[in-house]
Amino acid sequence: DKITISVIKADIGGWPGHSRVHPQLIETAEEVLAKAKEEGTIIDFYVAYAGDDLQLIMTHKKGVDSPDVHGLAWKAFEEATKVAKELGLYGAGQDLLKDAFSGNVRGMGPGVAEMEIALRKSEPVVTFHMDKTEPGAFNLPIFRMFADPFNTAGLVIDPKMHMGFRFEVWDIKEHKRVILNTPEELYDLLALIGAKSRYVIKRVFPKEGHPIPKDEPVAVISTEKLYEIAGEYVGKDDPVAIVRAQSGLPALGEVLEPFAFPHLVSGWMRGSHNGPIMPVPMHQANPTRFDGPPRVVALGWQISPEGKLVGPVDLFDDPAFDYARQKALEITEYMRRHGPFEPHRLPLEDMEYTTLPGVLKRLEERFEDIE
Ligand code: 13P
Ligand code: 13P
Ligand code: MG
Ligand code: MG
Ligand code: MG
Ligand code: MG
Repeated sequence: DKITISVIKADIGGWPGHSRVHPQLIETAEEVLAKAKEEGTIIDFYVAYAGDDLQLIMTHKKGVDSPDVHGLAWKAFEEATKVAKELGLYGAGQDLLKDAFSGNVRGMGPGVAEMEIALRKSEPVVTFHMDKTEPGAFNLPIFRMFADPFNTAGLVIDPKMHMGFRFEVWDIKEHKRVILNTPEELYDLLALIGAKSRYVIKRVFPKEGHPIPKDEPVAVISTEKLYEIAGEYVGKDDPVAIVRAQSGLPALGEVLEPFAFPHLVSGWMRGSHNGPIMPVPMHQANPTRFDGPPRVVALGWQISPEGKLVGPVDLFDDPAFDYARQKALEITEYMRRHGPFEPHRLPLEDMEYTTLPGVLKRLEERFEDIE
């Protein structure tokens, strides 16, 4: 009997600006999902937020890409958008890029991470929720969790992990994917995923011989790129991820350890700047300084044998991450001093879908040839 974990999120209005989700939107989504739970569409749910992104965490038995579950998420976002409009919230319905729901939310604006799994005797799971950044922001931490022995001691000392993992990487420009094996193809993997705006880790799988079947994901990341759907800048993708832990997978602390280093990600201020990602508890996921710096929230769960979500535990609500937060503030200050200069501002090719081309166009006729 398999259980599916679905995390579906959308920005349907900020309070104020792009800062955070209004509590009434959370209540509205909770009402919609509570009814669906009563009717048996889903087993359990939790509504969270990260910055201005509303996060639906659901368990059910309908598999990935289920029209029922995606339709439910769409309905929750639509209902909450009505409230956002009543309240005059900023960018009400921002991420609902299509008018009518047609089977699943992929390509419609919301971000999706889902996995269908056979529950282990005990199933510890972490859901990650980022704001003010793009899917490639997960490349470095997911790599470190599942492939870096300096992060994950289990890769060295646990015989169940010692053979490594398989990474499914998407080329989001060419719409192609490749599976690379670690540790054998570590350098090939890094050659791709270091270019995080183009090559994005979509899933991680175990290898043959692992207690978990090799086609069952152990991590999955949302890879929707909003500008590709909308054809213009409509805010940042603000990705989510689901990661399973323990028993032949990274321990909970190995799953969280990469975030002790607030690495640089893109998506801050107008989706156009690089900055450090700051690990925070949910109550601190209200980006304000220069609309940031980018945030990541980690929620910890045990999935009960019936598929109930036992949690959340707000995992970055721990003074052990104070140093990372302090470091992120130092980097914030350092990056901000660059003002409109790269590499604080994104390189030109990544600015293509922002409002910058509009400014450059106005200068076009002023240019003359150099002799
Ligand atoms: P406990 O003894 O606290 O269960 O720790 C087990 C462990 O290996 C933690 O990484
Ligand atoms: P969001 O994608 O979080 O709405 O961010 C938009 C933005 O440009 C903030 O400066
Ligand atoms: Mg927004
Ligand atoms: Mg957002
Ligand atoms: Mg966004
Ligand atoms: Mg213990």
